[in-house]
Amino acid sequence: MSKNFYITTPIYYPSARPHMGHAYSSIVADFFARFKRIDGFNVFFLTGTDEHGQKIQRAAEKNNKAPLEFCNEISKTFKELSKTLNLSNNDFIRTTEKRHYESVQNLWNILEKKGEIYLSNYSGWYSVSDEAFYLDNEIEEINGVKKSKTSGSPVEWVEEESYFFKLSKWQGKLLDLYKKNENFILPRSRKNEVISFVKSGLKDLSVSRKSFSWGIQVPTNKDHVIYVWLDALTNYISALNYPNTKDSLYKNYWPADVHMIGKDILRFHAVYWPAFLLAAELPTPKRVYGHGWILSGDEKMSKSKGNILDPLEIIDQYGLDPLRYYLLKEVSFGNDGNISKEKLISCINSDLANNFGNLCQRVLAFTEKNLSLKVPKPDLFNKEDLNLLNNFTNNYKNLIDYIDNQNVNLYMNFIVDQMFLANKYFNDQEPWKKKDNIKRLSTIIYTSLELIRKISILLYPVIPGSSLKVLNIFNIKEENLNVSSIKNNDFLKPNQKINKIQILFNKININD
Ligand code: ME8
Ligand code: MG
Repeated sequence: MSKNFYITTPIYYPSARPHMGHAYSSIVADFFARFKRIDGFNVFFLTGTDEHGQKIQRAAEKNNKAPLEFCNEISKTFKELSKTLNLSNNDFIRTTEKRHYESVQNLWNILEKKGEIYLSNYSGWYSVSDEAFYLDNEIEEINGVKKSKTSGSPVEWVEEESYFFKLSKWQGKLLDLYKKNENFILPRSRKNEVISFVKSGLKDLSVSRKSFSWGIQVPTNKDHVIYVWLDALTNYISALNYPNTKDSLYKNYWPADVHMIGKDILRFHAVYWPAFLLAAELPTPKRVYGHGWILSGDEKMSKSKGNILDPLEIIDQYGLDPLRYYLLKEVSFGNDGNISKEKLISCINSDLANNFGNLCQRVLAFTEKNLSLKVPKPDLFNKEDLNLLNNFTNNYKNLIDYIDNQNVNLYMNFIVDQMFLANKYFNDQEPWKKKDNIKRLSTIIYTSLELIRKISILLYPVIPGSSLKVLNIFNIKEENLNVSSIKNNDFLKPNQKINKIQILFNKININD
């Protein structure tokens, strides 16, 4: 079995202020990347910025900047965001980089040589905000403005010479792909959407534009730039040094294990992208996961709707890990979810501050006061101790499966249950009343410390910073983390010195 794992986020249209949806897409991908790393995989995790096309060109004009100058500035905000979100990405690709130009032009040449691309004329609707072509039946008119029914973005009429990709030809092969790879598109509900779209008949796709210049030139015709989605999707292999298919990055990591994306861009990833790859005789990715939207009220949070809850402000105010925890636990993965300050605060207080944080502080304070900050030597474990400790051993395989099936909810439920049980155990066992039974007291504290260790390891992909703070009490460092060690019930060594713990989460007053 190959121990390599390649996961991507979408590359973002750079904008001056990233919003919660961007943060969400990145945090969920980081969660999987981090879990796979502590499960012994060589992980390649990619993110970056999508800098070409009419949308960016217009945004630059509005700011009185040359497009590249504009992109250089705002691509930085996304690079900074990846640090602020504590993403563990291995690379950050910009579509304005030379390596990407070479990759895209190479792919274009292959497609053209194979007769998959032909020159004709396009006339139809185009949404600059979505960078997408729409059919008549995908458009509606609201207050005199023609808009896409699905995204609500305004469309404009485009008529110009254009190269076309023979998408229609790949309909059957795409349906085969979905059939053979049952989990190519997840979650299931979205897979059905895509299949019915493909079954309804595919039209050839316009893949070049002539009326503006901000993009990668068609290598054989300098009047055309390559359609920004053909350009953007190719980033996933540019970062692996395509077109050098002998390169070790490409060999080790392509095809990707998961493209993590939002549901609004599923058609591009699950239809167009595999069709381009099939036509170029390149391997198709193993999975495309279309997560839901972060809503504000009932609407998608987006810049054009002006209903943004700013992730940077939230992080400033409450910290990063509470936000990561909230997004992973409270949003039912695959579905849309809501975030509000009230919900975030109640989640921080109940799960993090009052539950896990409090447990860590109390167990550590007790160990400091009564056991000179040393791991005690346990005596015989009773049934209750063992049940709790073995929960992790018994569920280890399930946890691995949850991750491999992108079942974030079950993974989080498991952690929440264990936090609750560990807290309850410490309360019910009342070690402070057992000072005359040192064997039992030692066993209770040993068990509590082991539970804290195991829970913290599982929390690492969710809230890496806080998890490492806790694991530091046992001198466990990031580079030595291994998820299989949750199966050990005697990882901690009696007499081992324990480091003091820093405050993990502050309880927040709802009126603050
Ligand atoms: O689509 N909730 O970039 P983008 C959840 N450049 N996710 C959201 C969201 C919301 N409210 N709003 C946006 C692009 N997203 C292209 C991608 S990939 C080759 C090119 C998600 O900046 C959205 O679904 O508009 C997408 O996955 C990501 O943010 C980037 O969106
Ligand atoms: Mg978008």
